[in-house]
Amino acid sequence: MKRFFALVFAPLALAALLGATAVPPAHAEESAASQNPFPEQQTFGSFDKSQLQRGFLVYQTVCASCHSLNALHYRDLAALGLDADQVAALAAHVTINDRAATPDDRFRNPFPNPAKAEAAFGGAIPPDLSTIANARPGGPRYIFALLTGYQQAPSGFTVVAGHYFNLAYPGNRIAMPPPLKDNQVSYADGTKASAAQEAADVSAFLDWAANPDLDARKQIGLRAVLFLVFLGGLAVATKRRTWTDI
Ligand code: HEC
Repeated sequence: MKRFFALVFAPLALAALLGATAVPPAHAEESAASQNPFPEQQTFGSFDKSQLQRGFLVYQTVCASCHSLNALHYRDLAALGLDADQVAALAAHVTINDRAATPDDRFRNPFPNPAKAEAAFGGAIPPDLSTIANARPGGPRYIFALLTGYQQAPSGFTVVAGHYFNLAYPGNRIAMPPPLKDNQVSYADGTKASAAQEAADVSAFLDWAANPDLDARKQIGLRAVLFLVFLGGLAVATKRRTWTDI
C-alpha cells in the first residue's frame, strides 16, 4: 500500500516542486554587446530585462517617430520590470490625439494616415514592428544586421534617390535612413551606448514585442518534458513490479 501511495503521489510532488523552483534566471549583469546578444534565442535562455529596458528606450527615442508597434499597450511595459508609476510617467510623455497617453493606450502610431508616410519616404511605408522579429528569417539577428548594415555602396551599384545601401536588406536598397549612431540615447544603467549596442538592445526589445510569452512557454515546456520523463520511469518501474512473480 505504501508503494502504491508513493507511485501515485510522487509525480504530483515532483510537479509541485518543479512549479515552485521554476524561477527565471537573472541575466541583469550581462551586456548585450557581449558574445551572446540575444540570450532568449538559446534553448534554455530567457530575455534579459535590463537589455529590454534599454531596447525600449532606443525604440521610443529613435524608431517611434516612424514605426508603430500596434500590438503593445504601454501597460505591457510592466513585463520589462517597470512599476506602475514608471509606466504611467512614460505614457504621460506621449501625446495621442492631442491628449497625454495612459497606460491603457496602444503605442502611438506616428502615421495614422499611411499616405503621409508614403509621401515622406518615396512610396515606402515604415512597417509596424509588432511582429517583425517573427516575420523575418533570422529574427533579432536580422534586425541587428539591418541596423548595422549601412555602408558606402560599392562602385557600379546604383542607389536610387531616397534610398540607402544596406548589406542585410534584400536587394541592398532601403528607404529607411540609417537610424542609429553612437550615443543617440543615454542608458540609465551606465551601459556604453555604441551604435552596435543600441542595435542589439532594440533588436532584443522587438524580439520580446513579437514573443512576449516566450519565457513562460519555455518554462512550461521544460516542466512538461521533465514530468513525462519521470512518468516514463514510473511506468517502467510499475510494469517490472507487476510482472516480477510470473
Ligand atoms: C525616418 C524614419 C525611420 C526611422 C527613424 C526608422 N525607420 Fe525603420 N523603416 C523606415 C522605412 C521608410 C522603412 C521601409 C523601407 C523600405 O521599404 O525600403 C523601414 C523599414 C524597417 C524595417 C523592415 C525591414 C524589412 O526587412 O522589411 C525594420 C526592421 C526597421 N525599419 C526597423 C527600425 C528600427 C529598429 C528603428 C529604430 C532604431 C527604425 N527602423 C527607425 C523608416 C524609419
